[in-house]
Amino acid sequence: MKKGTKAAALVLAMTMAMSFLTACGGDADKEAKTASTEATADTAGTETADEGQTGTVATKTEGVLTFGTNAEFPPFEFVSGSGVIDQYDGIDIAIAKQIAEENGMTAAIENMEFASLLIALENGQIDAAIAGMTVMEDRKESADFTIPYYTATQVMIVKEDSDIAAAADMADKKICVVEGYTGEVCVNEMGYPYEAFKKGTEAVMELVNGKCDVVVIDSATAQKYVNDNEGLKIVEDASAFESEEYAIAVKKGNTELLDMLNSAIEAKLADGTISELGAKYTEEITAE
Ligand code: ARG
Repeated sequence: MKKGTKAAALVLAMTMAMSFLTACGGDADKEAKTASTEATADTAGTETADEGQTGTVATKTEGVLTFGTNAEFPPFEFVSGSGVIDQYDGIDIAIAKQIAEENGMTAAIENMEFASLLIALENGQIDAAIAGMTVMEDRKESADFTIPYYTATQVMIVKEDSDIAAAADMADKKICVVEGYTGEVCVNEMGYPYEAFKKGTEAVMELVNGKCDVVVIDSATAQKYVNDNEGLKIVEDASAFESEEYAIAVKKGNTELLDMLNSAIEAKLADGTISELGAKYTEEITAE
């Protein structure tokens, strides 16, 4: 049973990776989504073939694991007066810190535009990108991704009195997205015109001010914006938006670091650390 679970997790991770040509269009991943939350029961080492977690992974700066992020994506990463790494806080930041420390390193955060993260990896400016980043085929061409650690979906944020009840209702509406996010990819693929903003908060302000009708963005982040702003609600459409998986990205070919990160994520999925962090940071959001 345990063995089966582990094998299932591996097959699942591969199946999901292959199915993410985009993050949109259809509900083919519904079953996989359910399985993915269950397929984490086995702890043992890395799934990958290589052996070496020696704690001596080569990094940009010796003894420091430098993570790139875009701290505009609560609850995964945001700027806070009392962050866990410098002024940065969130689920991803807490994971980054733990992984570094468990491997005898300190964690550093480099905050940048979301669209710059994969370039920063290629340049060696950062060791890894942790940014609620959805695994997508085209991204896999420029970076390697760990096993997924979180399942999300795109949702629509609308005004409470909106008549948008499904993705198709966006057809004649003004749509706002965030530049380079999977939400933009999805809306683009649906063939609807849209306006893209640099930050989620900017898109949401546009909605609050009545200048657009709907913001398409990741589910947990949407929930944060709905909690923070009066008069908004979330509309889901599982037949239009597939589930997507967040993973950490490393420079292509950096299997040493990838293995280390995979072992860490696997252990944190198995022992409940990641779901605890998820609950902690979503409760903080709800409590606000
Ligand atoms: N999951 C979406 C994507 O991969 C949005 C991620 C945005 N993350 C961020 N840290 N700003 O495109």
